[in-house]
Amino acid sequence: MEADAIRSWGAKIADWAARYLSGVRERPVRSPQAPGVTFNALPAAPPRKGEDMAAIFADFERIIVPGLTHWQHPRHFAYFPCNSSPPSVLAEYLTASLGVQCMLWQTSPAATELEMRVMDWLRQMIGLPEGFHGVIHDTASSATLSALLTAREKALHWRGNSQGLSGQPAVRVYCSEQAHSSIDKACWIAGIGQENLIKLPSVGALCGMDVAALEHAIRADKEAGHLPAAIVASVGATSVGACDDVRIICEIARRHDLHVHVDAAWAGSAMICPEFRALWDGVELADSVVFNPHKWLLTNFDCTAFFVRDPEALVKTLGIRPEYLKTRGRDGIINYSEWSLQLGRRFRALKLWFVIRAYGIERLQGVIRSHVRWAQDLAQRIEASPDFELVTPPILSLLSFRYTPDGAGDLDALNARLIQAINDDGRIYLTQTRFEDKFVIRLVVGQTCTTEADVTVATYMDGLTLQTPAQAGPSGGMGTLVSGNVREIAVGVLALACLLMVSLMVRRAAPPAPVTPTLEDTEPAEMTAGEAVAGEVGEGVNALVGQELDGEQLESHQMIEQVSTMVKENPDAAAQLIRRWLNRS
Ligand SMILES: Cc1ncc(COP(=O)(O)O)c(C=O)c1O
Repeated sequence: MEADAIRSWGAKIADWAARYLSGVRERPVRSPQAPGVTFNALPAAPPRKGEDMAAIFADFERIIVPGLTHWQHPRHFAYFPCNSSPPSVLAEYLTASLGVQCMLWQTSPAATELEMRVMDWLRQMIGLPEGFHGVIHDTASSATLSALLTAREKALHWRGNSQGLSGQPAVRVYCSEQAHSSIDKACWIAGIGQENLIKLPSVGALCGMDVAALEHAIRADKEAGHLPAAIVASVGATSVGACDDVRIICEIARRHDLHVHVDAAWAGSAMICPEFRALWDGVELADSVVFNPHKWLLTNFDCTAFFVRDPEALVKTLGIRPEYLKTRGRDGIINYSEWSLQLGRRFRALKLWFVIRAYGIERLQGVIRSHVRWAQDLAQRIEASPDFELVTPPILSLLSFRYTPDGAGDLDALNARLIQAINDDGRIYLTQTRFEDKFVIRLVVGQTCTTEADVTVATYMDGLTLQTPAQAGPSGGMGTLVSGNVREIAVGVLALACLLMVSLMVRRAAPPAPVTPTLEDTEPAEMTAGEAVAGEVGEGVNALVGQELDGEQLESHQMIEQVSTMVKENPDAAAQLIRRWLNRS
């Protein structure tokens, strides 16, 4: 490809990306595609001759995009977020254009030194004391594996790498039952083994590790001749955001000379706000900490921040220097490949640098604080709704709830159908988890472009719309969507459309609430959001026009007009009118 082609295709792709990002909220969040559709649309054999870029790009739009789940959608409330942002995307384009490989200092001194500087900025931003040193990994899984390998080697007096593990005492690792599966996997790969990962019960409001049980387990293991090596403390675990007591865990670890690794893969980004640091109080005593700016710090995947207090121990574990990797004649340089599992390394520091500079600490804090506040507001609405149970209150911006209408019978099955219906509908995306042996719905606020209105829409979908008809009978509300009855689904969609509209109009009629902007363009984006959802409402309603319900033709446009006028004059009466329509079904 000639330089001119890069220029013209670069411009086309930049334009496509800008249009995609500004219009992503119009798309269904989760791909509705059936298994095999993309695979079968692709030729079975690779092309013998190069193809035209226009043809490739057309197929990208035709075959690939429809099969994507839109992670940058503002109503993607499932899993933990996987943020992106314009400065990060632009930096990634430069990274790909440069194509540098940052395994050694000499393979790009500026990349290594930028990483050193940016990781120290990040250390200061999350309140870790001096003495912690950072490196960028691809994922938290790799960082946790690196931490447990280091802990294993320290416990075995550096014999594991040289002699293997046979004949060594069983290396033991401790975590809570809430810890992420990457801890299990790290134990498998490090040769520690699943049976030597001791999972302790979680207790208390934050579902933290039972520290009395931890102390007991370590003592029992020592008496049995095992070799306790590490404790993994979770801060913001995946299921419901469980947080262990890091300070007490570190004190126990000190008494027994164990390594403490803190897994704050998601919650770590929130520590740029000092008021949330109580959740990892004592972190300064830990040996290593991991968090993912690619989750909640506007930096696109992949970008994991791994901090260690003793880089020498890490390098002693992972560093390997065949002649061809030696840097002769230079002292005191860092070769980050000796701090990582893999040798080859992408230039990830660039996007982090772009993001931190483009937003500054205050704007990044504003985004996180807004997400946390909106999740708290949502939790209050759920709590106030008699047909819903707030199962776990928000830990930062993660909460769980379930639908519990009177006489519903099997609540697990009902909630499983509910989440399926919500995700098939496509306007929002949620996941489930199990908590205290209940099937619960999990919702996390954290997308770069999410606005307060998006979270409000979630309330109406999960709260009012679902709740109100349930009061009229067991087949109402989300029961209508869940039952699969077409007529009732139509009513459910109409109700949803009206309520979305009401929620937006009430927001417009009410004095503007103080909202911390999420991005530079938040205000215009919020207007666009309103317009976009109004468009969705219109589409939903149009689809219903002409359908018969109870022998009556739906006069949807009239309904909308009525609602619009009433909302401006009397929002309560408007809400009541909608309830009447719903109950009529
Ligand atoms: C608490 C926690 N730890 C670790 C991970 C693994 O992260 P990664 O995908 O970066 O390996 C996750 C993923 O969501 C997580 O939630």
